[in-house]
Amino acid sequence: MSEAKTAPIPPTGITPQPGIAQRLLRLKPYFWRQRSVWMLAIGATLVAALTEPLIPALFQPLLDNGFAENSLPLWSIPLVVIGLFGLRGLAHFVAQYALARVTNDGMEKLRSDLFAKLVRADLSLFNRQSASALSNTVVYEVQIGASQLVSALIGLTRDGFTLLALIGYLMWLNWQLTLVVFTVAPGLSWIMKVLSRRLYGLTKESQKATDDLAYVVEENVLAHRMVRLHGAQAQQMGRFNALGQRLRRLALKSTVASAAMTPLTQIMAAIALSLVLVIALVQSREAGSGTTVGSFVAFITAMLMLIAPIKRLADVANPITRGLAALERGLALMHDAPEESQGQHQTQRSNGALEWQNVSVQFNPDAAPALANIHLSVSPGETVALVGTSGAGKTTLIQLLPRFLNPTSGLVLLDGVPLPLWQLDSLRSQLAMVSQDVVMFNDSLAANVSLGHTPDRDKVQQCLEAANLWSHVQTLPQGMDTDLGHNANQLSGGQRQRLAIARALYKDAPILILDEATSALDNESERLVQDALQKLMQGRTTLIVAHRLSTIEHADRVIVMERGHIVEQGAPAELLARGGAYARLHHRGEWAPELQA
Ligand SMILES: Nc1ncnc2c1ncn2[C@@H]1O[C@H](COP(=O)(O)OP(=O)(O)OP(=O)(O)O)[C@@H](O)[C@H]1O
Ligand SMILES: [Mg+2]
Repeated sequence: MSEAKTAPIPPTGITPQPGIAQRLLRLKPYFWRQRSVWMLAIGATLVAALTEPLIPALFQPLLDNGFAENSLPLWSIPLVVIGLFGLRGLAHFVAQYALARVTNDGMEKLRSDLFAKLVRADLSLFNRQSASALSNTVVYEVQIGASQLVSALIGLTRDGFTLLALIGYLMWLNWQLTLVVFTVAPGLSWIMKVLSRRLYGLTKESQKATDDLAYVVEENVLAHRMVRLHGAQAQQMGRFNALGQRLRRLALKSTVASAAMTPLTQIMAAIALSLVLVIALVQSREAGSGTTVGSFVAFITAMLMLIAPIKRLADVANPITRGLAALERGLALMHDAPEESQGQHQTQRSNGALEWQNVSVQFNPDAAPALANIHLSVSPGETVALVGTSGAGKTTLIQLLPRFLNPTSGLVLLDGVPLPLWQLDSLRSQLAMVSQDVVMFNDSLAANVSLGHTPDRDKVQQCLEAANLWSHVQTLPQGMDTDLGHNANQLSGGQRQRLAIARALYKDAPILILDEATSALDNESERLVQDALQKLMQGRTTLIVAHRLSTIEHADRVIVMERGHIVEQGAPAELLARGGAYARLHHRGEWAPELQA
């Protein structure tokens, strides 16, 4: 199930990747905005790095002058040592803070852009990616990516500088010995390259596995009642555990790859150290080489101090790879989610004339079309009921109006203007919609009614009154300020429908689209909903997918659909008399049966 819904991620490890530098460059707009903060971070890092060789450098005068010749003033020792560590501490603090600034500023901007993309993206995005995969990208991956990448880059600078400073000092002390140390460099770089490539592949696979895991959780939260009713717990646990084990295996493989780095670099260091020791001892035995105990200790200390930055540099591939992979997921979302296309036409209030010209919709190339060559016009103020068996294409027909769907061929027009030429905001402001499944936000009742606008309390109250919901709202402890909870779970089915009607009333759009719920309500609730609907329909062009006879009978015209075609249309009484498709549906009792009495 999850396979079908998540976006395919290309097979990992072998896909050609542009160079690291090029990939980092793509992140520049987010993480390179505050150049001064970067400079501060790098400057502080540089200071911290430069203090590193000062530590071994202190040993030399200490050993050669302090102990051997006794010429070092005692007061100078605490002064230099405390001063040195004070400077180091300050530099580390500033670097850390600047680092956090860069990370969090960049992350905030990237997140905000991603979310802006999400709310404006073409609707096909939501068919390709699951909710959990999208929230993973926007919330989790961006955070992991930004913090790992930025701290790795600063680490790279710090350790790079430290390394350079130490190497410079070593060269100055004894350049021949230093060159010996370098003989291990090619081996080191080869190890790093191989292991980091493997890590990249594993990271991509783990992202996919994490998405799948989150998807199972998402489904089980949404369908928690069904899981219990059908005793599907064991089956769902099976799905979850299989994915959990896959993630565990991938994490262990990543650890093997990154943990192998440390012992391998240490072996390289040991090789270099033994070479240096041997050569230094040989050199010191030669007369007049100038090697003092102090300079030898300083050399060995500085050389051993190389290990820590080298080790970190070897490991830096891991967070850089992980961070880049994570942020690139964000960039891919940005790239793969084009905005909805739109035109320029806009108007305050349309007159509500609708027309479908030879419209076909085909979801799958090998399936029958959901709509086939539909011709239909609806005049301003008309109430049209769409009826037909399940799957006939009724919902598809109305989803075309707000452009939640685009026709495969043909044109839909509003006020004689083809929908693609309309500005989307203007087009959608002409439509109020009460759909088959009511979706509410976890916010106050008033905010749900005035969705998209700050609630005008009087208007909210009027709409709730007209929707026959006001008397219920008055019984709530905080009235219209009551929080509705997750998807308005605290309301009954009929109350939710009336809330959706209140929302449509508040919008006061010239065109009303109703996709009646198929689930039947009890008679009292049904009467309240029907009464609210009648008020809502007044003075608007109304298109209603009708499952209730009472609704159909109020319509000016009934359109009967079958398998994507309009098979019959006319006034309800006229169609009944004609004895065609409508009459057959009527006699079969297609609509909510208890309401036909
Ligand atoms: N996103 C989609 N992808 C593929 N096929 C789809 C999609 N949406 C709808 N269909 C198919 O298109 C056809 C028409 O569906 P539609 O939802 O318009 O039916 P309907 O008349 O509203 O039915 P109901 O009365 O049950 O709501 C159906 O055969 C359905 O399987
Ligand atoms: Mg439908």
